[in-house]
Amino acid sequence: MNHPDFPAQAAVQAPAWVRHRKLVEWVQKVAAHTQPERIVWCDGSQEEYDRLCQQMVDAGTMRRLNPQKRPNSYLACSDPSDVARVEDRTFICCEKKEDAGPTNNWMAPAEMRATLDGLFAGSMRGRTMYVVPFSMGPLGSPIAHIGVELSDSPYVAANMRIMTRMGRAVYDVLGEDGAFVPCVHSVGAPLAAGEKDVPWPCNKTKYIVHFPEAREIWSYGSGYGGNALLGKKCFALRIASTMGRAEGWLAEHMLILGVRSPEGRKYHVAAAFPSACGKTNFAMLIPPSSMNGWEITTIGDDIAWIKPGADGRLYAINPEAGYFGVAPGTSEKTNFNAMATLKENVIFTNVALTDDGDVWWEGMTDEPPAHVIDWQGKDWTPAIGKETGRKAAHPNARFTAPASQCPSIDPAWEDPKGVAIDAFLFGGRRSTTVPLVTEARDWTEGVYMAATMGSETTAAAAGQQGVVRRDPFAMLPFCGYNMADYFGHWLKVGERLSKLGATQPRIFCVNWFRKGEDGKFVWPGFGENMRVLEWMVRRIEGKAQGEDHAFGVSPRYDDLNWGGLNFTPAQFEQVISVDAEAWRAELALHSELFAKLAQGLPKALSDARTALEKRF
Ligand code: OXD
Ligand code: MN
Repeated sequence: MNHPDFPAQAAVQAPAWVRHRKLVEWVQKVAAHTQPERIVWCDGSQEEYDRLCQQMVDAGTMRRLNPQKRPNSYLACSDPSDVARVEDRTFICCEKKEDAGPTNNWMAPAEMRATLDGLFAGSMRGRTMYVVPFSMGPLGSPIAHIGVELSDSPYVAANMRIMTRMGRAVYDVLGEDGAFVPCVHSVGAPLAAGEKDVPWPCNKTKYIVHFPEAREIWSYGSGYGGNALLGKKCFALRIASTMGRAEGWLAEHMLILGVRSPEGRKYHVAAAFPSACGKTNFAMLIPPSSMNGWEITTIGDDIAWIKPGADGRLYAINPEAGYFGVAPGTSEKTNFNAMATLKENVIFTNVALTDDGDVWWEGMTDEPPAHVIDWQGKDWTPAIGKETGRKAAHPNARFTAPASQCPSIDPAWEDPKGVAIDAFLFGGRRSTTVPLVTEARDWTEGVYMAATMGSETTAAAAGQQGVVRRDPFAMLPFCGYNMADYFGHWLKVGERLSKLGATQPRIFCVNWFRKGEDGKFVWPGFGENMRVLEWMVRRIEGKAQGEDHAFGVSPRYDDLNWGGLNFTPAQFEQVISVDAEAWRAELALHSELFAKLAQGLPKALSDARTALEKRF
């Protein structure tokens, strides 16, 4: 039924280059239900991107930045209520509740579908529906998979062009009947005829919904980041993790980097950290000048898809094509490569606008500018900031930038076969307790470390910040099925590698964030993390020593290379020490997590827990 205020339903005429009948029928069905005024089949061209951006400039959604300062770049400021992922509104709707596990919100698929039917009915009225075809991973790679997002947000269409391989070529890979993950997104703000739009339409009611059995995603009410760019967290992690479980591979919240030793040997590391804990910085690390000869190259900064290769090793691709990184704290000092990546062709979201039409955020420069317009459109000066505590940029302000612009991009970042992984790293943000680096003695010990990871919460998700929560594998908000089964899947992957006689990647646990009594970070972090990476590489090569302790092997002071850095043994002690009392409290938290995940928890992990307790 058409709304009386609206013209007849837009006809769904697919362009000739879309030959996939089922896909066209699905678009027809969604359009009939959501009733957009227009349908645009995105081709992914530069002209299309420019047109979308211009439309958003005209609508007040974005502002073009000064082309002399920041060519072809834009600033979008969101509704103040729509600034982060909404974990409490994120649902895994599989048939059986146990399959979603105790760490996910669950609703029965039929019930959720009824709710969504109601919400999406006419939800795109007065808007354009964009048909956004995308490949997660290099087009045609055996590790890649395809999705199609239907969205009534031009901001989503434009961001998806940066974040994924988006456009016509995807239909060539799909052909007439290729598999794709259907993703439907609406900001949930239909427009009545003649009604003026707002710059950032969204809805107070939000639903981010996954149907793992049907491999389908529905998102309602938010236009922001991980809630709306459905290729990222929804597909590449939540749905893909369930695909990986069924098919024997891994979809992980991990950066991927290449590290080349001075002898010219190249290794690949995949590292999991919770949101806003420096994955982008670590992926683009520049070794200190005193560590001449070491080189880091970037393959991905947020997500890794990892499949076993014919030789039994694990091969990883970055399924994304861009960075959706946290802006505050990013500077030429903390991440020179990111700043270079951001020189042009960027969409900034919720950062501040300078008087000369460029962008600024907290931490970008030592001295803040004398005046900016903050992310909420208000005047901001350093004095106002001091007085009111108001930030110029939202703490979860983001940049969307093409990965290809990164100076440290690895030559193999688009290699369809991926890169062979030599080590996995797991790290949380912990001001106490967890040492700078620990190597697991075997795969099970490594899985235990990753499973019991904790981290202090950040602004990347709505909710209280700075409290320690367990974040197993940095996947707590992103695992599309029961976390206990996910641990089991990791154990199985390891077993298979060892059965094949393949070398298992080493597993390390790191923590850059220990604080001293003055509340300041003790470890300098950033480029200096290269010292820890060097130790790991030398461990892989069998050249570095360390000390066995209750839960793994950590370096002693003399096992790390200190050339060019003044870091005393006393400081080292502060970042590496294992305090038995703090660890007993920590172990109690491990037990709490395991009790929560008792159903299906692999015995190997509860055994590891018991053994660890004995060692303490
Ligand atoms: C992200 C996140 O956006 O983890 O990458 O929140
Ligand atoms: Mn992330």
